[in-house]
Amino acid sequence: MENVFVFDHPLIQHKISLLRDKNTDTKEFRELVSEIAMLMGYEVTRNMPLKEVEIETPIGIAKTKIISGKKLGIVPILRAGLGMVDGMLNLLPMVKVGHIGLYRDPETLQPVEYYCKLPVDVEEREIVVLDPMLATGGSASAAIQFIKNRGVKNIKLMCLIAAKSGIERLQKDHPDVSIYCAAVDEKLNDHAYIVPGLGDAGDRLFGTK
Ligand code: PRP
Ligand code: URA
Repeated sequence: MENVFVFDHPLIQHKISLLRDKNTDTKEFRELVSEIAMLMGYEVTRNMPLKEVEIETPIGIAKTKIISGKKLGIVPILRAGLGMVDGMLNLLPMVKVGHIGLYRDPETLQPVEYYCKLPVDVEEREIVVLDPMLATGGSASAAIQFIKNRGVKNIKLMCLIAAKSGIERLQKDHPDVSIYCAAVDEKLNDHAYIVPGLGDAGDRLFGTK
C-alpha cells in the first residue's frame, strides 16, 4: 500500500489491543488514545527539518541542531479526533490547532459539516489531520478537501484504525496524502463500522453511550 505507514512498535500494538477491548472504560480509553497519539506523533514528525545552531554549554560551544522554522499544525476531526490532541501537544506544545466538525449521517453515511476553524496562516503550514477511525473514508476525505481549499499543500492523516475501504477511498481522492495508522482492519459492517475495530470512538471517548 503506497503512502500508508502502519506502526508496528510493540508499545503501540499493546495499547491498541487494550483500546479494542470492549471492557476498557472511558477513562482508560481516553488515556490510551492520547498515549498512542503521542507515540505515533513521535514517528510522524521524524522528517521535520532541523537547522544547525551554536549553543553555549557550561564548558564550551556546541554545534547542535534545533527544529527549523517550518510550521506545523494539527487538525482534529470532531469529535473523536479531539482525543488525539493532548498526545500531540505533549510533543509539540507550540503547535497551532484547527478544528473541523463533521459527523456521519447514519442513513446516508455521508459526512455533514458543522464547524471549521483553521489557523489564519494555515496555507503556510504542514497539517496533520487527526481522527482515530478511517472507515468509509468519507469524513477524512471531506476534511482534507476543506484544508486543501484553504491552500494547504502538505497534509498527513494520522488515525488509529483504518479499514481497507477507507484507505482505498483516500488514496483515490487524495493520493498526495500519506496515511499513518496503527492497524488496518479488513472490512466494515452494514452500518459502516469497522470490523473488528473498536466500536464508536466518539461514544467511547466521551461516554455518550
Ligand atoms: C467517526 C470517526 C470518523 C468517522 C469515520 O465520527 O471519528 O470521523 O466516524 O467514518 P468514515 O470514514 O466512514 O467517514 P462520527 O461520524 O461517529 O462522529 P463523532 O466523532 O462526532 O462521534
Ligand atoms: N466511526 C467509529 O467511531 N467507529 C467505526 O468503526 C466507524 C466509524
